[in-house]
Amino acid sequence: MTDRPPDTDRRFHGRRRGRRLRPGLERLLETALPGVSVDLPDGGAPVDPRTFFDREVRDVWLEIGFGAGEHLAWQAERHPDVGMIGAEPYLNGVARLLAAIERQGLGNIRILADDVRPLLDRLPDASLGRGFILFPDPWPKTRHHARRIVNPGVLDTLARTLGEGAELRLATDDQDYLVWMLRHMEAHPAFDWLAERADDWRVRPDDWPDTRYESKNRSGGPGPTFLRYVRVPR
Ligand SMILES: C[S@@+](CC[C@H](N)C(=O)[O-])C[C@H]1O[C@@H](n2cnc3c(N)ncnc32)[C@H](O)[C@@H]1O
Repeated sequence: MTDRPPDTDRRFHGRRRGRRLRPGLERLLETALPGVSVDLPDGGAPVDPRTFFDREVRDVWLEIGFGAGEHLAWQAERHPDVGMIGAEPYLNGVARLLAAIERQGLGNIRILADDVRPLLDRLPDASLGRGFILFPDPWPKTRHHARRIVNPGVLDTLARTLGEGAELRLATDDQDYLVWMLRHMEAHPAFDWLAERADDWRVRPDDWPDTRYESKNRSGGPGPTFLRYVRVPR
């Protein structure tokens, strides 16, 4: 028996490694990752995400599944006073973000090189100012839909950890996942969709950069959809 909603699967099903990394990138995983890694202390006590940073931050934002980290690095560079946490179990992507951190001298990014959910469980209520889930794996087969990261369990945790007025941004170029996202977000009482007209989801907002995944998959289809939700008052 489980009290988890039926379309939630808590195991991580993606890849942790891809093609062999160049030695320089492989080395970054050993030399640079420990210095920016989010390490959760033993025990189940809540962990204030501000303590992950070695300077005062005015807010903390979380990107779930940052891929190669282009979006996170872009946000970090433009918002140096915000602490950015990125969760990504795919180590090839983690290495690429580490390279960007080094190249751009970004001091406000911390990385959980793993499944985001154990971290989400440990974050205090209203401790995040913004959340991003951009182009999550669509898991197109019906029998795999429970693997989708946008699911009632994750949305409940985001509703708890995002502060009032915080934005949750989602994007997809998969029409079936889009319908799924809209259905789950609509059903969730903690989130209101900010869109008022079609351009609000069809046109990329100025503060929302392209990612590698997005440009690689641009196929002449209907194109990506940009969804912005707000965490409503409690
Ligand atoms: C299709 S890729 C998109 C990457 C990136 N957002 C982009 O737009 O380029 C989805 C990413 O989500 C990551 N992911 C899947 N499940 C995750 C989880 N439970 N926690 C954190 N990341 C996850 C995968 O490893 C993968 O890199």
